[in-house]
Order: sequence, then C-alpha cells, then structure tokens
Amino acid sequence: MQMTDLIVKKRDGHELSTEEIRFMISNYTSGVIPDYQMSAMCMAILFKGMNDREILDLTLAMMHSGDVVDLSGIDGVKADKHSTGGVGDKTSLVLCPMVAACGMKIAKMSGRGLGHTGGTIDKLESFPGFSTALSRREFINSVNKNGIAIIGQTGNICPADKLLYALRDVTGTVPSIPLIASSIMSKKLAAGADVIVLDVKCGSGAFMKTEADAVRLAETMVRLGTMAGRKCSALITDMDQPLGHSIGNIIEVREAVSVLRGRDEGDLLEVCLALGSEMLVLGGFADDRAEAGKMLMRTVRDGSALEKLADMVEAQGGKREYVYNTDLLSNAAVELKAVAEKSGYIRFIDAEKIGLASMHLGGGRVTKESAIDATVGVFLHKKVGDRVGFGEVLAQVFGSDYEKTESARREIVSAYVISDEPVEKPAFIKRIITPAG
Ligand code: URA
Repeated sequence: MQMTDLIVKKRDGHELSTEEIRFMISNYTSGVIPDYQMSAMCMAILFKGMNDREILDLTLAMMHSGDVVDLSGIDGVKADKHSTGGVGDKTSLVLCPMVAACGMKIAKMSGRGLGHTGGTIDKLESFPGFSTALSRREFINSVNKNGIAIIGQTGNICPADKLLYALRDVTGTVPSIPLIASSIMSKKLAAGADVIVLDVKCGSGAFMKTEADAVRLAETMVRLGTMAGRKCSALITDMDQPLGHSIGNIIEVREAVSVLRGRDEGDLLEVCLALGSEMLVLGGFADDRAEAGKMLMRTVRDGSALEKLADMVEAQGGKREYVYNTDLLSNAAVELKAVAEKSGYIRFIDAEKIGLASMHLGGGRVTKESAIDATVGVFLHKKVGDRVGFGEVLAQVFGSDYEKTESARREIVSAYVISDEPVEKPAFIKRIITPAG
C-alpha cells in the first residue's frame, strides 16, 4: 500500500477502506509516513469529507494508536463529559460532583487551558496541594471510594491525535467535521467511560461559530459514540457570551462552589442540569430528564454535591476546608472596575475578547509551557439582556499589576455592546442531540 495512492483516492472523492485508514494512522504514528503526505491527506479529507464508516475507522485507529484506559476495576456506570471549549466554562466543577452524588461514577481525564479558553485541570489546581497526576491505581481507588476523580491526561493516550492535531493546526486543516469528530471521540473512547455526554459550544467564543455547524459536529460525534458501543448524547449550548459570571481560575472555583451551595442560579446551573440529566438518563439512573433534574437539584439542596467536591479535593491532596470556605483561596493584587460608557441593555458580550483579556492578565496560556496566575480574572456583573445605567459596573477585573489590569479593563469595556432597545435573554441550551435524532 502506498500513501500517495491513498491521497489521490481521497482527493478524487473516493472512500478509503478500513485497511487503508489503519495503514495510514499506524504508519503516520510510527513516523514512516511524513508530515507533508499526511497534510495533503488532511486537506483532501477537509474538501472531500468522509462517510460515517470512514470516520469511525479513523476514530478507532487513532484510539488504538496508544493506551486505552481500562475502567473495569470501577464498580458501576462510569460517565464522562466533554466540552468543545468555551470562556468561563466551569461546568465540570459543578456537574461532576452533582452526578457523583446521584451514584454515577465520574472517572474523568481533563485538559489544561490554552489560548482564550480555560481548562478544568488548571481550575482544580487552584486548591493548594491538589494533584491531578494520580497513578492509574490511585485513580481507580479514588473513584471506587468517593465516586469521583478528575485527573490530567496520563500515559500515552491517542498519540496519533497529538501528532495530527499539531499538524492540522499549522496546515489550515482544523475545521473539518470528520477530523474534529474523530480527534475528540478517539480520546473520549480511549478514556473508557460507558456514558459520554458532549457539550458542543456554539457562538462567538466557541470553535463552532454557527448552530448549523455545531449540530453537524454533535450529530457526527453522537453517531460515532453509539457505533462504538457507548451511550452518548450531545447538547448544543450558547457561547455567544461567557458562561456564568467568572472567567479565570480561583474566581471560577468560587462560582462553581456558590452554584453547588444553591446560591447561584442562571446559565451555569441550567447547562449543568441539562448535561447531568442526559448522563443520568443514559446511565439508567432516571427515567426521564424531569426526574433527573429533580435528583440533581436535591444534591444541591442537601449539600451532597458539595460534599463530593470536598471528598475529591481531599482525596487528591487538597484540604476540604477550602471547598467550604473559598475565601481561603488567594486574591489578586489589583482590582479595577469596567463601567458602562452609556446606559441601555446588554446586547452582546464578545466571549473571545473576554477570554483573551483574562489570558493577557496571566489567567490563561499563550503557549503550552506558559505558567498561569490562578488569582487573576474577570467577574461579569452584567450579562446579555441586563439593563445597565451610565457609569454602572459591567465587570470587575482582577490582575497582578496595574498596567496589565488597566489594559484588560479597556478590552472588557470594548467587549460589551449596549443597545438602546430592550434585549431578550438568550436560550442557553439550543438543542439536544440524541442517538435517536
Ligand atoms: N478539539 C480536539 O480535541 N480536536 C479537534 O480537532 C478540535 C478540538
């Protein structure tokens, strides 16, 4: 078999066989197929697409290019969640303890933030002493004991995807549904959960800017998960403004805890309830979404979800009192207020600009190697649809030095669009995609 023939075949719009896809992925991972041939193949896939059978073969070939996590040592139904990435997205910190308090097992591997989007691992490391680098045995034991553990990616998960993603990044071949879907799902399948719920973000702060593209990606991933024998569904959720009020690390942990204490309602809670309901229904813990929603809210009211978060923090090296009293976490050195330059109604908040402002403050990574400052960030007092008066505070900005904080403050003011006419609050959950359609 020759890679050149496969490139020509795909370029001319033909279907690649299972053997051809396996040949391509295994030889690319081992270095036999060079980057220039693989980039030509990615471009051919971007233009000509792939059918479901090809995408599944590609996903499975990438999944088996490295370690496949064996979660059979954990009793019960294991659930995982994936978000395509957004600004202020701290859903895992809220959702996972809630679902674990309902009896489902959360054995989750999460990522670090890069660019304008944050990562769960960075947020969890805001708890002093918290370790996201458990051994496989510690991870399994922790889930069996507490029902929940969240760690960073360990071992050699999907090396083919690591190579391919880096290549796609520099060859203009990221925005291809077959390539994105196989990249995400190969990692999720390798992580071993029985139930996978996907949060596909859509809007200015997301990877998928339009609802139509988000739906196409979500439908493809749900089909892949189902074909691979997992229970899988997806939500399309709004990212035309940041999720919740806070963007940063410690500041997002505080907001997550506040939601778990039942002190905060709004888009963050709504998205977590919707994702959690899908998990409970798919896992057979509830008959329908209404029952699942009630179960999840009960975990907030009776404090069991907060207990789960504290159990996890303690099991992974932190102190539970930081969960019960987030004032113990450090504060930023500088605080400035971004105020409205006119009165009216908030029409739009550019999530990407806010995410970048947080990154420039030091809360996010410019490169994979950058260190982050957990104390900095932004707290949005006004969200889309809110009324604001001239000079009223739109957001608080937390930084480490005056100059950077002032520059972020200006970025934040420019991220807000204020209109004279009243603006309706947007729907946070746009669609639910199930295997049945
Ligand atoms: N996230 C991934 O993991 N892969 C992609 O291709 C795009 C987003």
